[in-house]
Amino acid sequence: MNLKGKKIILGVTGSIAAYKSAVLTRLLIKAGAEVQIIMSTSAFDFITPLTLATLSKRPVLSQFQKDETGIWNNHVELGLWADLFLVAPISANTLAKFAHGICDNLLSATYLSARCPVMIAPAMDLDMYQHPAVQSNINTLESFGNIILHAESGELASGLSGQGRMMEPEHILSRVEDFFALKSDFTGKKVLITMGPTQEALDPVRYISNHSSGKMGLALANAFLSRGAEVFVVSGPISLSPNKDSFHWKDVKSAKEMYEAASDLHSQMDICVFAAAVADYAPAEVALEKIKKSDANLSIDLVKNVDIAATLGSKKKQHQKHIGFALETEHGVQHAQQKLSKKNFDVIVLNSMKESGAGFQLDTNKVHIFHASGLSIESEVMPKSQIANLIVDQIKNIPVTV
Ligand code: PMT
Repeated sequence: MNLKGKKIILGVTGSIAAYKSAVLTRLLIKAGAEVQIIMSTSAFDFITPLTLATLSKRPVLSQFQKDETGIWNNHVELGLWADLFLVAPISANTLAKFAHGICDNLLSATYLSARCPVMIAPAMDLDMYQHPAVQSNINTLESFGNIILHAESGELASGLSGQGRMMEPEHILSRVEDFFALKSDFTGKKVLITMGPTQEALDPVRYISNHSSGKMGLALANAFLSRGAEVFVVSGPISLSPNKDSFHWKDVKSAKEMYEAASDLHSQMDICVFAAAVADYAPAEVALEKIKKSDANLSIDLVKNVDIAATLGSKKKQHQKHIGFALETEHGVQHAQQKLSKKNFDVIVLNSMKESGAGFQLDTNKVHIFHASGLSIESEVMPKSQIANLIVDQIKNIPVTV
């Protein structure tokens, strides 16, 4: 694919893999992209700015203030200029800065100012890559909507062998090309996503809820966003830190609040994805004061919550597509297929608590996708970001009814 006219900031940080950024620059330029390189000063120990400036046909930037001439490198302008902010290789140090909003060089300031999508290709030694601190920073960046080009396995500079090698420049180029090809396939579409758990208050300090983290819903929201859709999120309480400004974002607590928010939006939507784990029941009454412990057992009356997906499903217009989820512990296929027809879904995504690597809280999932037309596909265990794109691809395949 041609990258003609695409403006790419290529960040290069201090890692032995920085030598590969020369090849990557060449490939991006050859594909027609405009490439502006920003190096961290520690990258200078691994590759010279002269090499990268020559290959990118532009001066390399590194400092806020460029020498005594007083030229100001405006990170805000750079962030607005780019169609894509790619950092390859990204070191453990820069990963940590990005994840925690530390702004101490031109590259990290530009990251914080960038409005365009961000792709990062980590590179480091085996044990560093697997360290929980590094993995947690990668997960944090993924929750911000950044696209992670996971390290590849092979021989490492230390002599160890395993995951940690920066993705090969040719593979990065093809991910960049795919990104620009996919970017617009949902342009003009309005997508509603319900996600996370609901909390049903018992009294001012306690509630009934479940283990949903919101990771699956957020991965879907990011996938639709990166493919050009206008995304409306109605989220139960989560502890992720998404970039809410990229979406029309509404935080809610209870199933009733989630229903009201989703219902207000429904008629304007083209696609609705019900990824939330909504509590089916709520306490009949919410105690005004904290319920006090006594020697007796306590019974709580529960009433049925509104079924958001089923209620909106009964109002679905011909052009609208509804996608549901089913989280099951037994007879998954049977229950999922019942929900598919009962809630008037076009597609239902089954994830089972019995499958390892699938379900609540995890960064991965394994799904079985059923179409109302009878088609079905099953995935492997994959990161939720990849599962989200697989689901979005399936939504694209739903036949249009006229
Ligand atoms: O958030 P994570 O930790 O990443 O976990 C993701 C997930 C497991 C929560 C997600 O992938 C998932 O399966 N969500 C739906 C879980 C669920 O509650 O399924 P269900 O079988 O109870 O509901 C079926 C469908 O009806 C779902 O689309 C649900 O959103 C919807 N529903 C259910 C009840 C209700 N009152 N209103 C609804 O809209």
